[in-house]
Amino acid sequence: MASPPSSLLVAIVACSLLACAVAYIRPPPSRPLYVPHANSIDYLLPEQVHISLVGADRMRIKWTTEDDGPSVVEYGSQYSLKATGSSDDYSYLLFYRSPHIHDVVIGPLSPSTVYDYRLGMNSARNFSFKTPPNSLPFKFAVVGDLGQTVSSGSTLDHLAAADYDVLLLPGDLSYAGVEQPLWDSFGRLVEPLASSRPWMVTQGEYETERIPLIHPKKFVAYNMRWRMPYDADPATSSGSNLFYSFDVAGGAIHVIMLGSYADYDTGSPQQSWLAADLARMEQQRPQWVVAVMHAPWYNTNDAHHLEFEEMRVALEAMLYEARVDVVFSGHVHAYERFERVFNGSSDLCGPVHITIGDGGNVEGLVTDFLLPHPAISLFREASFGHGRFEVANATHALWTWHRNDDDVAVAADQVWITSLASDLNCQRKRFSKLTIFSHKEDLGSIDIVVTCEKEDIFQFGLILLEIVTGKLPGSNTQLDYLRAKVNTGGGPLEEDTVMILCTMAAFEAKA
Ligand SMILES: *[C@@H]1O[C@H](CO)[C@@H](O)[C@H](O)[C@H]1NC(C)=O
Ligand SMILES: *[C@@H]1O[C@H](CO)[C@@H](O)[C@H](O)[C@H]1NC(C)=O
Ligand SMILES: *[C@@H]1O[C@H](CO)[C@@H](O)[C@H](O)[C@H]1NC(C)=O
Repeated sequence: MASPPSSLLVAIVACSLLACAVAYIRPPPSRPLYVPHANSIDYLLPEQVHISLVGADRMRIKWTTEDDGPSVVEYGSQYSLKATGSSDDYSYLLFYRSPHIHDVVIGPLSPSTVYDYRLGMNSARNFSFKTPPNSLPFKFAVVGDLGQTVSSGSTLDHLAAADYDVLLLPGDLSYAGVEQPLWDSFGRLVEPLASSRPWMVTQGEYETERIPLIHPKKFVAYNMRWRMPYDADPATSSGSNLFYSFDVAGGAIHVIMLGSYADYDTGSPQQSWLAADLARMEQQRPQWVVAVMHAPWYNTNDAHHLEFEEMRVALEAMLYEARVDVVFSGHVHAYERFERVFNGSSDLCGPVHITIGDGGNVEGLVTDFLLPHPAISLFREASFGHGRFEVANATHALWTWHRNDDDVAVAADQVWITSLASDLNCQRKRFSKLTIFSHKEDLGSIDIVVTCEKEDIFQFGLILLEIVTGKLPGSNTQLDYLRAKVNTGGGPLEEDTVMILCTMAAFEAKA
């Protein structure tokens, strides 16, 4: 779709505005890169190995075999430790049946430690991974819309040279769609990196893979192949592989993985889970908060411009009140970095939004940026590459965008970001001790009014039905209490049920 003359013009105009030196002719979409099966006669040879974090000290190992074999991981010194799991497979339309997809969680593991491991009692291939540190500093690699092209291969080569602890992928992995064998090829393509460091992903549009009537179920391949730790702690399970959170660096960094293709409206499981997650987070008090999602809320590229406004309106205030530091997204096949923003404008307590959808997808780059260049967009360029987010300590993190092809003689984008948790002007709201102001029994539900006071106990519950904000008589602050109708099923009012009201108060209250 790229038309060289107009994109060249855009590049020249953009460059003259950005004071960059040389107009660069964007490469066309690059060739698909298909990684064939190892062509072994060993039908139990492990392939497509990748790992992901589960809680503070466990790791999920996933791999495939052509025939079904033992779902066993042997690991550690002399492979003396052992864990078992399960395997499953799926079919897609009439033509495709997946290999056997194994899933085993191992641990507890020590931080910053290299573990050797082998799979399915098969010593024909041995692997190793390094666990992330349980304190700062901590290094993320970030790559979106990776796909499997020559450009993806280049991105992976650059990533291989990076020293990182965990990789974040904001969706669009294999671009398989109806060509399901591409999932297998993708698994083999990323294996060298994804078997040695945890890859934490969220879904993109390509992962949906729904065809009305003939394959109505969404995310079948994605959920089975790239299972994330949404239920690492059953008590806080999000109930869906499409959105979850995890902590790293001993709790210093909280990472929220949102689902652009799961419902996000008021009352949706995702929004309720996010409210509970942010409340729990407040109890942990991380030094950094990172959110990852596929479709950007801030984007000055013509491609997908304002496409996810509804999601932004539904969830942005929650992330803002929780003082999320950085939001990474993909979807747009280019790189862009914004200043701190909230609700469309510059805001010193808002997150830095970064689009890193330039991993190497098969559709090529999107080169048409909106003009004039909006002031909140600080850097934008359509080139393939990846990012590194290196959290140095409680206050400082270094973000760097690496181009695959250094087409101009300047360093790629780099900026120090300081944490909002360390900014006294941007303290998170903390409410928690509650007082039941009044309550009235009413056929299995209770009408209650609560006020929340600042303290450090936070609990959560998800039985909330309806919230009405109000003003306490004789007071002039905007929000003093919440009134909620809570379905108690006829039983007594549980403390957990009331606690969520204070959680919600944290999001409703405005500075
Ligand atoms: C894997 O490790 C085992 C035990 O140390 C060894 O016997 C085997 O040769 C190794 N296999 C490969 C492919 O390196
Ligand atoms: C966001 O801005 C719009 C107008 O641009 C305004 O109507 C709305 O109330 C604002 N929302 C928040 C949460 O500040
Ligand atoms: C945090 O890291 C930054 C950047 O390396 C450094 O300038 C600062 O002194 C560090 N802060 C502390 C408390 O070590």
